[in-house]
Amino acid sequence: MKILGIETSCDETAAAVVEDGVRILSNQIASQVEIHARYGGIVPEVASRQHILAIIPTIEQAMAKAETTWSDLAGIAVTNGPGLVGSLLVGANAAKAISLAHRLPITGVNHLEGHIYASWLGNHSIHFPLVCLIVSGGHSDLVLMRGHGDYIVLGRTRDDASGEAFDKAARILGLGYPGGPAIEQAARNGTASIQLPRAWLKGTSDFSFSGVKTALLRLVEAGKVSSSADAAASFQEAVIDVLVTKAVAAAQERRVKQILLVGGVASNESLRKRLTENSSIPVLVPEPVLCTDNAAMIAACGYYHFQAGRVDGLDLDVVASLKLA
Ligand code: KG4
Ligand code: ZN
Repeated sequence: MKILGIETSCDETAAAVVEDGVRILSNQIASQVEIHARYGGIVPEVASRQHILAIIPTIEQAMAKAETTWSDLAGIAVTNGPGLVGSLLVGANAAKAISLAHRLPITGVNHLEGHIYASWLGNHSIHFPLVCLIVSGGHSDLVLMRGHGDYIVLGRTRDDASGEAFDKAARILGLGYPGGPAIEQAARNGTASIQLPRAWLKGTSDFSFSGVKTALLRLVEAGKVSSSADAAASFQEAVIDVLVTKAVAAAQERRVKQILLVGGVASNESLRKRLTENSSIPVLVPEPVLCTDNAAMIAACGYYHFQAGRVDGLDLDVVASLKLA
């Protein structure tokens, strides 16, 4: 069963063909990173326009690379939120047009649910119940998953998402955009020697990353940071410390069989390593290219939607703040 996945929630125009929810036949990503880097962050209006330019060629490339024809497809899965409305609309409308023209069923996929399903790509053995740590530019959520499509949000960030914190810290340190990879790169040449606060929010699975970012800003403003490498390493350490500690605690408390680490920040090598080393419960992390935004994860998730009979009509709407569960 081949599914075409389409993802345009933020600044990557992506299309992919995935078979049976696990085998990637193609995974095309047209990145807008260089365009937005000029502005130091994503400009929504620019993102929408770039998606319009890139969507058809990206879908055509995904189909060609997968050597798939429209009649080979069983359906289309498209991200319908959360994300930038103008960006989401481009993918959703492309999916609807193809659905109408080729009489293919369509299913809307929550972007966060898509991130979770990146774990299934490559046919790994996954056992429920599990705890999933979703760390991206817009979210830092701890989710209990008891089966396909069955989510209980245990905790979330109360202010900045972890990816957002990485991006802001990189800006404070003048390391450029996108911040996550920039911080990780700089941290390789530094040591975590600067004391930065951790918000534990004891008794909850919630996170808060605005305090550590502000503490870093105050140190820089006071001229107390002489090495941006040490500052990057210290910041990365503070964020990872909290993420890993709270994810392991939630997994132990819920007595789950597995921990999934997903989302753009999960491509961070130190985070991957630390969670794997610090957890007695098995940890599964998708390869880095499947952690950052892509359409293979959307197609993988769509497969389970279709299996469960979750089909949407041409009235499928995009929702900027779409919730999981
Ligand atoms: O999942 P994603 O690609 O898009 C969203 O759904 O937001 O995540 C993007 C976020 C950005 O904030 C980016 O700085 C962060 O993931 N990120 C990283 C790394 N690569 C991307 N953060 C830390 N270390 C990385 N290597
Ligand atoms: Zn994402």
